[in-house]
Amino acid sequence: MSDMVLTGGTVVTADASFRADVAVEGERIAAVGLDLPTNGAEVVDVSGALLMPGFIDGHTHLDMPFGGTVTADDWDTGTASAVAGGTTTVVDFSLQDVEGTLAEAVETWQGKADGKARIDYGLHVAITNLTDAVKQEIPSLPGLGVSTIKIFMAYKGTPLFTADEDLFEALQIAREAEVLVLVHAENGDVIAKLQAQALARGDVSPRWHGLTRPETVEAEATNRAIRLASIAGTPLLVVHVSCAAALDEVRRAHARGQTVYAETCPQYFCFSDADLARDGFEGAKYVCSPPLRDPSNRDALWHGLQVGDLQIFGSDHCSFNYAGQKELGRDDFTAIPNGLPGAEERPAALWTHGVRTGRITEQRFVAVLAANQARIHGLAGRKGALVPGADADIVVWDPDRTIDVTQANRHGNVDYTPYVGITLTGAPAAVYLRGTEAYRDGEILSQPGSGQFLQRAFRQPAPGPAVR
Ligand code: URP
Ligand code: ZN
Ligand code: ZN
Repeated sequence: MSDMVLTGGTVVTADASFRADVAVEGERIAAVGLDLPTNGAEVVDVSGALLMPGFIDGHTHLDMPFGGTVTADDWDTGTASAVAGGTTTVVDFSLQDVEGTLAEAVETWQGKADGKARIDYGLHVAITNLTDAVKQEIPSLPGLGVSTIKIFMAYKGTPLFTADEDLFEALQIAREAEVLVLVHAENGDVIAKLQAQALARGDVSPRWHGLTRPETVEAEATNRAIRLASIAGTPLLVVHVSCAAALDEVRRAHARGQTVYAETCPQYFCFSDADLARDGFEGAKYVCSPPLRDPSNRDALWHGLQVGDLQIFGSDHCSFNYAGQKELGRDDFTAIPNGLPGAEERPAALWTHGVRTGRITEQRFVAVLAANQARIHGLAGRKGALVPGADADIVVWDPDRTIDVTQANRHGNVDYTPYVGITLTGAPAAVYLRGTEAYRDGEILSQPGSGQFLQRAFRQPAPGPAVR
């Protein structure tokens, strides 16, 4: 017997859309089908709405130290903003302490999330110091429920930067350990040189953030990471792909039959290098890495999403206040903490610019926000699909709901939003987390601590492009 039946909606999966009721029993989906029995169950009429699996955001940075400060959103406010957009699961980056172990990073992040997370969550480990002991520790990560590590080819001069020798060895270890390597692909050496030259010339304003990280710097590192993964014989996930040149390296890998997953993010569709060049210090509000690009890149990114060269759409939510945080770089763009908020806007931005314009289908929307995220981030079976037995994470999506973004109607903890003044169409009317209402009509209903830690597992796929 079901506890709740959502009736009259249209279920959207990664493959098809069809009229169906969705029955929930406890925390799980009990049935999906026409005219399901409702005897005794709460009946929720969702006529006119689309029913989709709760969105998964495989790329957030909550309560994370970065650039001499700590992200503005913690696990309470960050997950509140995520669920307001329809996201019911995040996979966040636990940062290894330079002197610490990977297990300690996971434990520290579980401590940050514990009692605060309003939605379910998994954890990656971002490596800052790949010592011999850490290399030996990587195979133990799946036992902790962690199936992914992130390696940074950028940020030279900080502990995040990893040289090729170590990246390659990490890839080899990951292959044996059944761990997926996520790579931040920008050439850190070249960026450091260009930054030093810019500062020496007195070019200190935010627009130099973009000009010292040109597209070819990302494309070169993307190709290098892909080739190193090929030599190591293991899959790779290139995160936050921002431009056509980098995507072209992913496309070439797919043409060779290599398993390379790739993610892009809403900021590369909503903003551009012109925002970095805004008057005064306003450009600091748009500093993220890879940087915002010339809009001519967007057609290629849309094509990548359409054909499956880009399989996932993550937010890279990494929020810093303008006052006191972005301002750290007033006299030196290299001191501006990198990152933008976007967890709340991610689905609506993709619906507005992708589905409503006919660039992608609503099935593709579900694929890149939920189904593919679950497969790549090791959550398939439990998350990312509206099927019996899966967690009852359900988005009741109103395709026509329009929101004019203001600072006041955001649910996070940042003192500005780069999306201010933008109109987004398509929004959740309601969101369920494991069968319990977590959001409705602008109001966050899930409580801090409602979110559970998710054990994730990555299985080496058969050779080939794998997930599309
Ligand atoms: O600018 C960004 N993306 N900040 C977050 C850290 C990262 O590289 O993902
Ligand atoms: Zn990154
Ligand atoms: Zn990131």
